[in-house]
Formats: sequence, C-alpha cells, structure tokens
Amino acid sequence: MNLFESLNPEKLTPYETSWSSPANIAFVKYWGKIGHQLPANPSLSMTLKECLTKSKVTFTPADQLEVTLLFEGNKRDAFGQKIKKYLEDLSTQMPWVLRLNIQIETQNTFPQGTGIASSASGLSAFALCLCDYLYYLMKLPRDELFFQRASFLSRLASGSACRSVYGGFTSWGDHSLEYATPLNEIHPVLKNLKNSILVISDVEKKVSSRAGHDEMNGHYFAQARFNQAKAQYAECLASLKNGNIEKLGSILESEALSLHAMMLTSKSSYTLFRPNTLAAIQLVRDFREQTHLPLYFTLDAGPNLHLIYPDSEKNKIQTFIQNELSPLAMRIIDDEEGTGPQCLK
Ligand code: PMV
Repeated sequence: MNLFESLNPEKLTPYETSWSSPANIAFVKYWGKIGHQLPANPSLSMTLKECLTKSKVTFTPADQLEVTLLFEGNKRDAFGQKIKKYLEDLSTQMPWVLRLNIQIETQNTFPQGTGIASSASGLSAFALCLCDYLYYLMKLPRDELFFQRASFLSRLASGSACRSVYGGFTSWGDHSLEYATPLNEIHPVLKNLKNSILVISDVEKKVSSRAGHDEMNGHYFAQARFNQAKAQYAECLASLKNGNIEKLGSILESEALSLHAMMLTSKSSYTLFRPNTLAAIQLVRDFREQTHLPLYFTLDAGPNLHLIYPDSEKNKIQTFIQNELSPLAMRIIDDEEGTGPQCLK
C-alpha cells in the first residue's frame, strides 16, 4: 500500500488530532498468522458502540523518534515503548516517522481491568491519528482510501484492530489480507444486535494473544482449524445476508469453542476458561432450549462471555441475564453494534 514513503521529513509540521475508536467482537476468529501480521484465515466482526478508546495525539518535528504516552493521566512507559517499536518497524515504509516527537493521551470508556481487550480500540485509535497526520501533511481529503490506510496501519499494530476502523460488520482476510473491509449486506433482523459482556474475571491473562497466535505454528490441528474458519466465514456471511439468526448463533458458538480448543490442544496446553465461563455457557444453552429465544455466546481470548441477541428480544433476554447470569459475573457491560470511529477534533 502506498504510504507516501517519499514524504520529505523537512516538510513535517506540528499537528494535533484526536480520535475515538471502538472495540470489536469477532464472530469468526482470527487465530494464527502467516508472514508479518497477516491472517491465516478470514475473520469477521461486529464493531461495538460503548467500549471505546479516545486518543489525543500531538506530532512535533524532532531529530529523533520519541514517544510519551499518558493513559488516563498516568505515564505508561511500557505502552509508549510498544508504540515506539511499532513506529520503528513502520519506518521501513514511512521513514519520516523517525523524525517525530509524539505525545499520546489516551483513555477508555470501559473500566480498566474488566478483561475487555483494549488493543483493538487503543491501537486503531492511534493508527487513525497517525493516518490523519499523514493526510494533513499530504493535504488529502479523508476519503475511502483514508480508512483503508488506517486499517492497514492498525493491522500492523494489532491484527484485530484493523477491523475497528469501520462500523457495523467488517471482514478481514477475504477481500484483502492487508486491511479490513466493511460488510454492507446485513439483513434488517440483524441490525442493532446487542452484546452484553459478562465479565467473569478481570485477572490479566497469563498467555498473551501474541503467544497464542504463535502456538498455531506447528499445531497439530492448525490446518483443520483454518479450513473450518474459512468454511464458517462463508456460512457467517450468508447468514448475515439472509438473516438466519439460528445459523449465525451456531457459528458464533462453534468459533468461540474452536478458538479455545486450539489453546487447550496447543503444545503449551492452556485454558483461559474459568469455572464460571462453563457454568454460564450451560445456562445460556438451557435457556435457549427452554425458551427458544435467540441468545448466543461467543468469547475472545479470555474467560468473559459476549452474549449476542437481537434488539427485538432484549426485554426477556436481559431479564434472564440479570437474574440468572449476573451472579456468575463481576459485572455486566451492555453494548451493541456501533457506527465506528469518530474524529473528535
Ligand atoms: O489482534 P490480536 O493479535 O490481539 O488477536 C485477537 C484474536 C481474537 O480476539 C481472539 C480473535 C479476533 O479475531 O479478534
């Protein structure tokens, strides 16, 4: 992708921008990489509305790259170093980034320590600010290509972050391996899907997603998993188009359990499930059997259940969540399909 590598560092001028970017929940999971941050299988996610990162970034021309990062007002050196390393890697494509002093002030709308992955929202928010700076320098309008470039830049920071630059439903690894694409053909019955997040544990996970992706190299079931994800991706696309929520729900749950099965059967053999994860799964399945209401679960790389259901059934389902599932959780975050990032400047 053309990132204007020829941009003359002498042309850099100060700039400040601010973006809010959402988390997303994968319906078909990305788990396993090929090459540099490219996915081994296509994935598909719903962008959230309430779980957001807001970042303000100040770019100042300098002799060498410096990054300072304040998270909710406190200096976070490790996160700042992560961004610095990302920019150093990016300098092969955008050498001018090495001539910047970058100050980042960032905050999340979701509480810290809830086990909600902040890398997709946090790193897409930063990538959007960086892309905004690039467009300011190049005097370009924020068109479709802006978001494609922001998705490309997000992906290099954290794979799943590339899907957060669009609202609604987004896919990655089908149209392109390098950036995500918005999905436009969604059946009206699946508009405004709800996502209640059952926070079962807020303990930082022992095995990072990066290590989890690495475990797929040489995994005995890797190829079978990639084939399954590819098939389920096609079925998921079809269900989103034709509004078949039962089929969509069965894919959601199969994807979540296959992701965690990969962890259990990897060489390091680990699980991120907690006893209450399984207890909640059982209750969701019992509820569905008894009521025939369309309530389904999925999981990210963590113990927390993302409960997915249509807006039309929210009253009965939220009563069940409150009465039966909330005793298993530390808290519940009510979220839903969102419209994507916003420039706050
Ligand atoms: O983006 P990463 O490298 O943190 O990987 C995230 C992987 C999952 O959240 C488990 C699945 C996905 O597609 O979002």
